[in-house]
Amino acid sequence: MNILVTGGTGFIGSITSTELVSAGHTPFLVDNFSNSQKFILENIEKVTGKKPIFYELDVRDISKLVEILKIHNIDAVIHFAALKAVGESVEQPLRYYDNNINGLLSLLSAMKEANVSKLVFSSSATVYGDPDLVPITEEAPLKTATNPYGATKQMAEQIISDIAKNGELSSVLLRYFNPIGAHPSGLLGELPIGTPNNLVPYVSQAAAGIRDKLTVFGDDYDTPDGSGVRDYIHVVDLAKAHIAAINYLEKTENNVDVFNIGTGRGSSVLEVIQTFERVNNIKVPYEIGPRRSGDIGTCYASAEKAQKELGWEAELSLEDALRDTWTWQQNLEK
Ligand code: NAD
Ligand code: WQD
Repeated sequence: MNILVTGGTGFIGSITSTELVSAGHTPFLVDNFSNSQKFILENIEKVTGKKPIFYELDVRDISKLVEILKIHNIDAVIHFAALKAVGESVEQPLRYYDNNINGLLSLLSAMKEANVSKLVFSSSATVYGDPDLVPITEEAPLKTATNPYGATKQMAEQIISDIAKNGELSSVLLRYFNPIGAHPSGLLGELPIGTPNNLVPYVSQAAAGIRDKLTVFGDDYDTPDGSGVRDYIHVVDLAKAHIAAINYLEKTENNVDVFNIGTGRGSSVLEVIQTFERVNNIKVPYEIGPRRSGDIGTCYASAEKAQKELGWEAELSLEDALRDTWTWQQNLEK
């Protein structure tokens, strides 16, 4: 199939593009480089052996999107393009709503105009209401968003569902848990733009000496070792979930479906640090600090629905992800 990949040079988009090529599809990438860089295109080519077809474009440019959808006979779209930093979204709500909501509306209008009706959307486990009720199934209640980033994901799910119910669209909403890792080649991963908010990029920068030390946000949660527990999913497994979603859209009659994309297993912050140290044979300087405001103790997925209906499940381990993260980190420093 011909697949438009928005946010195609980003962390998850770039690696999904390589998996699309491996699965025999042709990805067409668009990105405005607001959180990525041009060298990623060369690295995608190094991994796939094919020069990616790429347009530098903001997804809010409807007419350009329509043109691309039409000239390349696009069959389906995977929509990654969004801003994703929770804290930044609290400081810059207008920028987040404009980018993430207007970006989605523009894409949906362009798809309608070009008669493209299949969409895979990047949602997030942040939409769930009581993540402590684990494992979280897709039926778990949603919450009132506590930050603009989370609100854009909930609104986007609602917008897509309304349009899909109208019969104009078939869509798969993928709720990612905590994506980590990098492509095993060390050529594609999460770019170090700004100070990392997320645990694993911070661990990796602390190990590399770029950060003084990592602060573990709380060791008094109701978890086996007191530190927070999350469902860390290797980005290559996550990328493959998109191929499964595309295949599913090819054969399903459903208008909208939602799937958790996680491993079904939780790991604590201290376990992540110890595993990183063990597999990479390097020390991670850290200290225990207070809880981070807004954090919860435990959050991991029920991965059963994706396994049954998409035929997808995570295959790679936490060890694999942390080894690949370190290879990527070392390549970045070269
Ligand atoms: P990323 O920032 O690495 O990739 C997003 C890409 O989209 C970037 O290359 C950026 O330049 C591009 N982009 C942003 N706005 C754009 C616009 N208006 N027009 C064109 N390009 C634009 O982020 P990622 O981690 O790859 O995340 C991809 C998607 O997955 C996002 O929608 C994100 O919200 C979602 N998600 C990510 C995580 C995570 O922890 N990484 C978890 C859950 C959901
Ligand atoms: C993981 C664990 C922290 C940093 C966020 C978003 C969510 C989704 C994924 C996009 C927690 C602890 C972290 C540090 C730490 N993104 N931690 N020290 O909070 O589960 O989810 O990213 O959709 O929407 O909210 O991920 O990586 O920030 O934290 O101890 O320096 O690591 O307390 O237990 P989180 P995270």
